[in-house]
Amino acid sequence: MTEESSRALIVERFGSPPRIVERPVPVRSPGETLVRVHAAAVGHLDLNIVDGRFGVLPEPPFVPGTNACGTVVESDVHPEGSLVLLRGSGLGLRRDGCWAEHVVVPDKAAAATLDGADPAVACSFFSAAGAAWAAVHDVAAIGEGQRVVVTGAAGAVGSVAVQLAVRAGAEVIGVVGRPAKLAHVPAGAKAILAADLSEEALGGAVDALVDTVGGPVLAAALPLVRPGGRAALVGYSAGREFTVDLADFLLADVAVLPVNLMSRAGGLAEVGERLLAEITAGDLTLNVERYGLDRIDEAVERLRTGAAVGKVALTMD
Ligand SMILES: NC(=O)c1ccc[n+]([C@@H]2O[C@H](COP(=O)([O-])OP(=O)(O)OC[C@H]3O[C@@H](n4cnc5c(N)ncnc54)[C@H](OP(=O)(O)O)[C@@H]3O)[C@@H](O)[C@H]2O)c1
Repeated sequence: MTEESSRALIVERFGSPPRIVERPVPVRSPGETLVRVHAAAVGHLDLNIVDGRFGVLPEPPFVPGTNACGTVVESDVHPEGSLVLLRGSGLGLRRDGCWAEHVVVPDKAAAATLDGADPAVACSFFSAAGAAWAAVHDVAAIGEGQRVVVTGAAGAVGSVAVQLAVRAGAEVIGVVGRPAKLAHVPAGAKAILAADLSEEALGGAVDALVDTVGGPVLAAALPLVRPGGRAALVGYSAGREFTVDLADFLLADVAVLPVNLMSRAGGLAEVGERLLAEITAGDLTLNVERYGLDRIDEAVERLRTGAAVGKVALTMD
């Protein structure tokens, strides 16, 4: 190979901003695949790892990045030049991750992906689209004619959840926190601000809630679900805690259900392939904000503050 050095982002200690280092292109051992990374996702999980706030953590200094997409450079099992997704096998958790121009991964952490897919989409779509699918179809069981509220409706999970619920024949109200995001709620849904959430604004109680925001937004949205309705809880960007008054909870008679993509991921593999094909074909929309390695601070800030519209990815090309 001709390239001698390669850039990577390193976290020296938990909570410190990642910084760029030049290092030799990593060398693989048998059982490993060397990949030229085109794009790597910057997700909430990655930020929790950078902050040292996750159950499994790498030993600093480490290269973060749990999901990426790239081209195989050397491997015993994956065809050279093929496009692969990188995830699992402790990537970015128990071993260096993918926020780098080159990465060596266990063979089984690489899997062929759709030829012609946009690498920034391919590496970041699954957590959003998979969680949205699970929330809308498997957990909230949204169907024709139902009235549904989706919070964080311009976010990655929320925007896909809106599209899937609209497609299922539901009447969808998309809730966003900031006025600038109203225009980013996908077509087919009514867009309103979280501050305006009320039964009046919704035109009456709804059948289901898909909440991707948590905290005070969940507290405001949950009472708007009708008795016998369902609430699928996906995320907690706005707050991890939520207080329940048991008397109100029992009276409300709403099923509050967790969406856990990790436990459902295996069963959603085929759905994932279909959703990536739909995004690639333009039948489903998932916005991805892209940043070079030298703009990691901006990428992190956009995601942390909730200002990002859709997914955030590092692009290395
Ligand atoms: N349960 C699972 O298996 C699973 C799978 C994937 C993702 N998740 C979680 O689901 C949540 C949504 O994921 P996502 O990829 O859709 O994230 P996202 O694109 O960042 O969307 C989250 C939305 O939360 C809102 N928000 C309100 N206050 C915020 C704050 N203080 N900081 C950040 N965002 C804030 C923002 O919308 P407004 O500006 O409209 O308020 C933002 O668009 C995350 O918590 C993620 O960890 C869970």
